[in-house]
Amino acid sequence: AAVVEHTLNVGNLTVRRLCGEQVITAVNESFPGPTIRIHEGDQLVVHVHNRSPYNLTIHWHGVFQLLSGWADGPAYITQCPIIPGNSYTYKFNVTGQEGTLWWHAHVSVLRATVHGALIIRPRRGRSYPFPKPYKEVPILLGEYWRSSIMDIENLAIANGGAANISDAYTINGQPGDLYPCSSNKTFKLNVVQGKTYLLRIINAALNNQLFFKIARHRFTVVGIDATYTEPYDTDVIVVAPGQTTDILFTANQANGDYYMAANAYSSAPNLTFATGTTTGIIHYEGSTSSSAPLMPVLPAFDDTITAHKFFSNLTSLTTGPHWLPCPVKVDNQMFVTVGLGLVDCGANATCSNPFGPQYRFAASMNNVSFEFPSRLSLLEAFHSGVGGIYTEDFPDRPPIQFNYTDTRLSSNIPLLLTKKGTRVKKVKYNSTVEMVLQNTALLSIENHPMHLHGFDFYVLAQGFGNFNRTRDSPKYNLRNPQERNTIAVPVGGWAVIRFRANNPGVWFMHCHLDAHLPWGLATAFAVENGPTPSTTLPPPPTDLPRC
Ligand code: C2O
Repeated sequence: AAVVEHTLNVGNLTVRRLCGEQVITAVNESFPGPTIRIHEGDQLVVHVHNRSPYNLTIHWHGVFQLLSGWADGPAYITQCPIIPGNSYTYKFNVTGQEGTLWWHAHVSVLRATVHGALIIRPRRGRSYPFPKPYKEVPILLGEYWRSSIMDIENLAIANGGAANISDAYTINGQPGDLYPCSSNKTFKLNVVQGKTYLLRIINAALNNQLFFKIARHRFTVVGIDATYTEPYDTDVIVVAPGQTTDILFTANQANGDYYMAANAYSSAPNLTFATGTTTGIIHYEGSTSSSAPLMPVLPAFDDTITAHKFFSNLTSLTTGPHWLPCPVKVDNQMFVTVGLGLVDCGANATCSNPFGPQYRFAASMNNVSFEFPSRLSLLEAFHSGVGGIYTEDFPDRPPIQFNYTDTRLSSNIPLLLTKKGTRVKKVKYNSTVEMVLQNTALLSIENHPMHLHGFDFYVLAQGFGNFNRTRDSPKYNLRNPQERNTIAVPVGGWAVIRFRANNPGVWFMHCHLDAHLPWGLATAFAVENGPTPSTTLPPPPTDLPRC
């Protein structure tokens, strides 16, 4: 094991995209930010200097943070923001997981441009559980706005509506050939015929799941969310915001140029989303062909069948180096609705949406719209026993039973109204948690990518319509369920996840569609300390930013 040290300077950067110039917030003057490469078992030490005009935190998406919750990063959950001009050093060990993760800002919408890849290679001296690829290439899928995303977001929050859709999707920061003024910077990957490449695909987009294909080439999926999968052969993948997918592909076609391309998988029937396609070029070295690259045929934006087939067919590699069997006994059984709703916004005149001026969009879990604290982070309150910051009464089930996927619900205002609160679920150290995540049709059905900090969970089953325990629990895959940190709960459907709460601290859980976070689609788990010093969260580092 080694100590790997990095410095992230966060500040303004002028970029040229889509025929215009703009100042964005970026890390070390690059967009996307730098790739961080470590080996499993290493310690990572990252000095973050905030030279931007905004409050900042950095989250290490998917890292377990075993006994290092102070380094997790979500603002007001595990730390207060690093204010402009200040610094914080994130220090943590990365153990028990390998593959592709990423880091991103975890306050406001800064993560649109403040993000980068975090690559965890096998422990020093060990190799992959698949043939060594010739080359490894991070592919960050993202979204780009022509104007300040911070202004766009602030406007949306003031109006109680949704933020403007993006102007382009991007591959490694570039919109690519099909967008105006973008051709000469299109991401290009030179390949050697016959060689195999590992693409580490990260969906860093704010608000869209994305399909990804390469013309004429098939892939083998070997990892998701930094867990190894049983090799899975496919010609298309879908990645939800927050998720990663590692694919091997062999350059086994005729010399020439081939597009890699991504476009939106948009599950909600009435949602507006950006319709463009971002592209990169795979160029066979030595090829002199001057014809245009071959374009893959991507699925339609509403192709839920293709998305579901991909998501539900993945399984874990149980011979992988970090595999642990799924716990059989459940200590905390939860049924949690995830969906959109409305909160009453009282006399606020700027509050507007189709349901009338008195309501604003909200989202909820079990009808609770999560409210961030502002005086103290949840973790500081939990660790030092300060009261009045949160309550421990996050409900194990929704307040009323109803037909969650009945689309007529959208006219039922009393059912739509959510309650604000900072309510967490407290669980005992090392206890197991099972959650049925049920999408509701309040306002609209939609596939919500639910992300849990601090843990990977096993995905036992997923399906459409209302979850039915008698019918669905016999179908649980307890043998080799896929392990993830972000589950795309099927649109108008459900997913069952299970994890062991073996890490004391406060762990955020939320929808990774960024628009739904300020609307409250979140909660947190407060995991108590274990019985020994080695199962107890240490005190905060002295430079932890305070509110
Ligand atoms: Cu990638 Cu709480 O986020």
